[in-house]
Amino acid sequence: MKTLFSGIQPTGNLHLGNYLGAVKNWVDLQNKYSCIYSVVDLHALTGNITAKELKDNTLSLAIDLLAVGINPKKSILFRQSDVVGHTELAWIFGTLTPIAELNRMTQFKDKSEEQKNNINSGLLTYPVLQAADILLYKAEAVPIGEDQLQHLELTRVIARKFNNKYKTYFPTINPTLSPIPRVMSLNASNKKMSKSLGEPSYITLRDNKATITKKIKKAVADEAGVHNLLDLYYYFGDAKKHSTMKADFEANKLMNSKLKEELTKELIKFLKPIQTKIKHYEAHPKEVEKILANGAKQAQKIADKNLKEIKKLVGLI
Ligand code: AMP
Ligand code: TRP
Repeated sequence: MKTLFSGIQPTGNLHLGNYLGAVKNWVDLQNKYSCIYSVVDLHALTGNITAKELKDNTLSLAIDLLAVGINPKKSILFRQSDVVGHTELAWIFGTLTPIAELNRMTQFKDKSEEQKNNINSGLLTYPVLQAADILLYKAEAVPIGEDQLQHLELTRVIARKFNNKYKTYFPTINPTLSPIPRVMSLNASNKKMSKSLGEPSYITLRDNKATITKKIKKAVADEAGVHNLLDLYYYFGDAKKHSTMKADFEANKLMNSKLKEELTKELIKFLKPIQTKIKHYEAHPKEVEKILANGAKQAQKIADKNLKEIKKLVGLI
């Protein structure tokens, strides 16, 4: 089986954008690839985050991932900083990456706007570490949301530069987009659902009934907003009802309140078993720590072997 790698930052709980845009695909692809999934805590350090938040978020994100169906018997799930090699390979890649490429990255520009008082160099070199995450395992498939395509293109550039300078070693990677690569925000239908737009923008896997009801009720219902709600209904609801509501919408007959009610009902139903699993892991954090430690051990084995080969090619050993 081919190797697949993906990562997600521990900057908060998973929301429906993360789930539909990326993580649902992570779950579905477990039988097709040899999957390696990482909670990328070193990447999260580039944002405004306290030590306590980083530690707590890492555990709760691992819990969310297990609860939606990442199966540690099938896939490797680990904390990025537990594996030696990511930062070392990032350094090597940094010497191959033109600064001009990094300056072009839209995530860098967006984050620089968002955290004007903390434009650290890690924020600029963030995609170099991302390339190292992927290529350390010589992964070929990388499931992500649309906003990460530019970073993956840069990963391909870095791999090509390495292969040209030293020897053809890294495979060509392919981004794998989910059927909805871009879930829109509930409170701004022209922007993607995102933590940075605040609570009303998103629904997390941990939101309770009252919160879900309130957020959907307040969701913007302009044309793009209704499309977004219909899309969400399509993924969580009943296919037949979806086509009826879609037809009603096109005929200008759809009651937004009905769509919102139906969607709320389906979301609550969908999240119930996930939330039961989250509660289980929250009550047994040692179980989660063990899964992460075991994942790190498996990942380290692959990383050690590949890094040794890479260092030989570069002339470091
Ligand atoms: P982030 O929360 O920005 O760290 O993103 C984690 C993963 O979820 C990445 O693969 C993103 O591409 C994906 N993602 C984040 N927000 C959305 C969204 N609104 N729609 C689709 N995918 C998303
Ligand atoms: N940059 C990604 C994001 O913001 C997270 C990430 C880090 C990642 N390393 C990765 C995604 C490697 C895919 C592969 O969502």
